[in-house]
Amino acid sequence: MSQATTYSNWVEVDLEAIRNNIRWFLKNSGAPVMAVVKANAYGHGMIPVARAALQAGVNWCGVARIEEALDLRAAGLDCPTLLLGYTPPERVKEAVAQQLSLTVWDSCQVERAASAGQKTGIAARLHLKVDTGMSRLGVQPEEALALARKLAGTPGVIFEGLFTHFARADEADRRPTDAQERLFRGVIEQLEKAGLRPPIVHAANSAASLTRPSAHFDLLRTGIAIYGLHPSAECPLPEAFRPALTWKAVLSQVKILSSGRGVSYGHVYTTRANERIGTLPVGYADGYRRILGNQVLVGGRRVSVVGRVCMDQVMVGLDEVPEAQPGDEVVLIGKQRQASITAEDVAKIWGTINFEVVCGIGPRVPRLYLHE
Ligand SMILES: Cc1ncc(COP(=O)(O)O)c(C=O)c1O
Repeated sequence: MSQATTYSNWVEVDLEAIRNNIRWFLKNSGAPVMAVVKANAYGHGMIPVARAALQAGVNWCGVARIEEALDLRAAGLDCPTLLLGYTPPERVKEAVAQQLSLTVWDSCQVERAASAGQKTGIAARLHLKVDTGMSRLGVQPEEALALARKLAGTPGVIFEGLFTHFARADEADRRPTDAQERLFRGVIEQLEKAGLRPPIVHAANSAASLTRPSAHFDLLRTGIAIYGLHPSAECPLPEAFRPALTWKAVLSQVKILSSGRGVSYGHVYTTRANERIGTLPVGYADGYRRILGNQVLVGGRRVSVVGRVCMDQVMVGLDEVPEAQPGDEVVLIGKQRQASITAEDVAKIWGTINFEVVCGIGPRVPRLYLHE
C-alpha cells in the first residue's frame, strides 16, 4: 500500500533485510555480533532496528552516546550495550545504574566508574580501548598493560572487554590494517601473559568482519553492512545483503511552465521550452542536500531535480514521464520498477559517503517499518 496519501516524504525500513544481513554474519563468521545502532541506527530508527537485530540473534548493541543507550533501556531493551565513545563524567553513574558497558582509555575514567559502581552497588562494566592507529580514542598500546592492571585491580569495576577500531579496513590495501592488527595482538599477548585478558576482545567493523577473519576475535561490531550498505567501493557487500532503507516522497503538484521561466530560489534553472515540472515536499530540512545534480525516480525513470533545493520542497523535470500525476510516489533512495538510486549513488552526487547520506535523513521524516 502506498503511503503517499498520508505522508509528504517518508522512509520505509525493511526489518527483514536487516535480520537477513545480520544472519549472514552470524552464519559466515561464527562470531557473536554487536549491532551498531548509534545515530538513530544510521538514520533507520534505533528502537525498531535494535529489536530486529536482537530477533536475528545479535548479543550486543553499540551506541555512541549515553542518551541513545538510555532510549534503548526506556524501550525495554536490556541487552548488553556498549557506549563506544565518550561518556561525560556526570553521566557515568547513570550509565552504571543502567548496566551499560563503558569505554575507557585513562585511569581517571576507571576511578570514576569504580566510584559509580560503589555508589550504585552495581559493578561498572568497562571496555579498555586501545588506539592502534585510528588516533581518535584509546590508550596507546605501550600504556595498555598498566591501565589493564589498574582495571583488573580496582574494586567496583568489571574488566569486561578490550577493543580497537580500524581506520582503513575498507581499503583494498591490507597493510595499514595489518599493522593495526599486529599492534592490537601485541597488547592481547601482554595481557594474556599477565593473566589479564578480559572475556570480550573485539576489533572488527563491517569491513573487517567481511574481509579479515583473523580480526574477528570474540565479537563483531557491525554497522553499515547490517543496513545493507557497502562499507566502501573497495569493500563491497556480498550479493546476499539487501539494503533496508527506501526514501520516498509524493508528487504534490505537476504543471507545464512556458519557456524562460525561472525555477526555485535564485532561478539557477530556467525552462528551455514548455516543460512539465513537478514539486516534491522534501527539502534540506529533511536532510536532502542543497546541491545541484540530484536525481529521483518517477514512473520507474530517473529524472533530475531542477533549481535549488528549498528547505521543505524541490522541483523535478517531468518531460520524460508525461504520465506522472500529483499523488504519485517518487523514490529518492531505493528501487522503483526496474530503476534504482542507491545511497551510494546519492553519496556520489553529494560528494560524501553512504553513511552520511542515511545518517543525515532528518528527524521529521517519518520512519515506517516493514516486516516488524
Ligand atoms: C567504534 C566503532 N565500532 C564499530 C563501528 C561500526 O562501523 P561500520 O559501520 O563501518 O561497520 C563504528 C562506526 O563508526 C565505530 O565507531
